Amino acid sequence: MVQSVAPQRSVLEFADSRVREWVAKPHRMLIGGQWVEAASGETFPVYDPATGEIIAHVPSGDAPDIDRAVAAARQAFEHGPWPKLTPSDRGKLLWKLAELVEQHAEEFAQLEGLDNGKPVQIARAADVPLAVDLFRYMAGWATKIEGETIPISVPVAGVEGTRFFAYTRREPVGVVGQIIPWNFPLLMAAWKLGPALAAGCTVVLKPAEQTPLSALRLGELVQEAGFPDGVVNIVPGYGEKAGAALAAHPGVDKVAFTGSTEVGKLIVQAAAGNLKRVTLELGGKSPAIVFDDADLDITIPGVAQAIFFNHGQCCCAGSRLYVNKKVFDTVVEGVANEAKKIRLGHAFDPEATMGPLVSQEQLERVSGYVQIGQQEGWRPIVGGQRYGNRGYFFMPTVLVGENESSRVVQEEIFGPVLCAAPFDDLDDLLRRANDTIYGLAASVWTRDIRKAHTIAHGLRDGTVWINCHNVFDAALPFGGYKQSGWGREMGHHVLQNYTEVKAVVVAL
Ligand code: NAI
Ligand code: MG
Repeated sequence: MVQSVAPQRSVLEFADSRVREWVAKPHRMLIGGQWVEAASGETFPVYDPATGEIIAHVPSGDAPDIDRAVAAARQAFEHGPWPKLTPSDRGKLLWKLAELVEQHAEEFAQLEGLDNGKPVQIARAADVPLAVDLFRYMAGWATKIEGETIPISVPVAGVEGTRFFAYTRREPVGVVGQIIPWNFPLLMAAWKLGPALAAGCTVVLKPAEQTPLSALRLGELVQEAGFPDGVVNIVPGYGEKAGAALAAHPGVDKVAFTGSTEVGKLIVQAAAGNLKRVTLELGGKSPAIVFDDADLDITIPGVAQAIFFNHGQCCCAGSRLYVNKKVFDTVVEGVANEAKKIRLGHAFDPEATMGPLVSQEQLERVSGYVQIGQQEGWRPIVGGQRYGNRGYFFMPTVLVGENESSRVVQEEIFGPVLCAAPFDDLDDLLRRANDTIYGLAASVWTRDIRKAHTIAHGLRDGTVWINCHNVFDAALPFGGYKQSGWGREMGHHVLQNYTEVKAVVVAL
């Protein structure tokens, strides 16, 4: 009988007193610089995934709240101080926000642990510093969004020697709706807000209903940093209500979404009404490919981390493992051993290296997939089931099998579940690696640089890592081919999502 790793008392009791007090206070949504209740007065509960206990209630935004927030964002975009700020001023505000988040790093790490369930030590090492760095990186871009001068050759009938001066401007796209998921709540808010604000847009942000707390705390720091009222509005709520209203709103110029491919398609439909611009960062089924010449000492922990980091709740999780048949048994046994070393525990357990899944719904989804896999010929060699009887813990799982048309190979599971299969022939490997509707990321593990780059070029994915996986940087563009999305996040590429190009032509 497995012991429960959920704490006997409330996880809140492990948090610092200021975090506890903040979580316990009444929560509101941020609209036009004011903290307000939902127009309906309704709230929804926030759960601690380690115990299933309700830790807070936040206002449940719906269409009337989105209307108010979009009006505030429009007002701030067109009037008042924001459009008058210089790019340098916008950069300073973003830098200030980065500093404030850094000053409150421990508080954010604890909030992420409470809300999402991830170990606080992981939020400290990854989520929070990456969010700070993203704001700093984008602060630098505010002053570097440039147009071009363009020599044009058009002759003007009857006017000998007419000359033109033509140039482009890159102007903010306007009011932006941003809808984010629960796997990295603060970091996803940073990925979205950073470039939008650097470009001079105003924003209505809807955090995921599973994890609204860090976005609300971030809203307080946005105000403290001195962003003008209405530049950033934060409306928590359910996807079908607040999210759908935001995606469809005729006053929104652009929507940026991260989440499931299924909802991504709904966003595209909702956006059609006013042809708002759409960028999507969606699901994945990323392959990790191991050759027989790979350095197995780094490869085995590397491909284990590729799937198990953040409990497999990463859009780019290395959820399909292809291993050259000569080293298949060694690698797969090695990964299973890595899985056994993982310590499941609640966010504040200092020994824990993996927390619970985010929700009851995800626990059921992941458990359901493992059952389907077993029916379709995939055998668990480690894990395969829920852990304990309290909270949403699921054991790190390695499935071995061959049936690649199975749903466990084709669909995003978003949990700590790896499907491992051997390969022999290189051409066939590339076909198999590319044979899903997704194209987000992949990793290649080998000592042979020619092979590594040849495979990297043949993969239809937005990111290819060689001898590493899950390496992110604010400067690196990230996004998907195929049904993994439209557009790129981060790097300078993301700024294209938040600007319109205007051509200005002067007859001299
Ligand atoms: P989801 O795609 O439903 O949720 C993501 C965000 O979209 C949330 O803020 C949600 O409130 C919002 N949303 C949901 N329905 C909406 C609608 N009709 N209109 C506008 N916004 C809407 O993802 P969910 O249900 O949390 O997880 C289900 C699966 O989605 C996961 O198992 C995983 O496979 C995938 N997923 C992928 C993510 C990624 O980063 N690629 C992140 C989260 C989930
Ligand atoms: Mg959903």
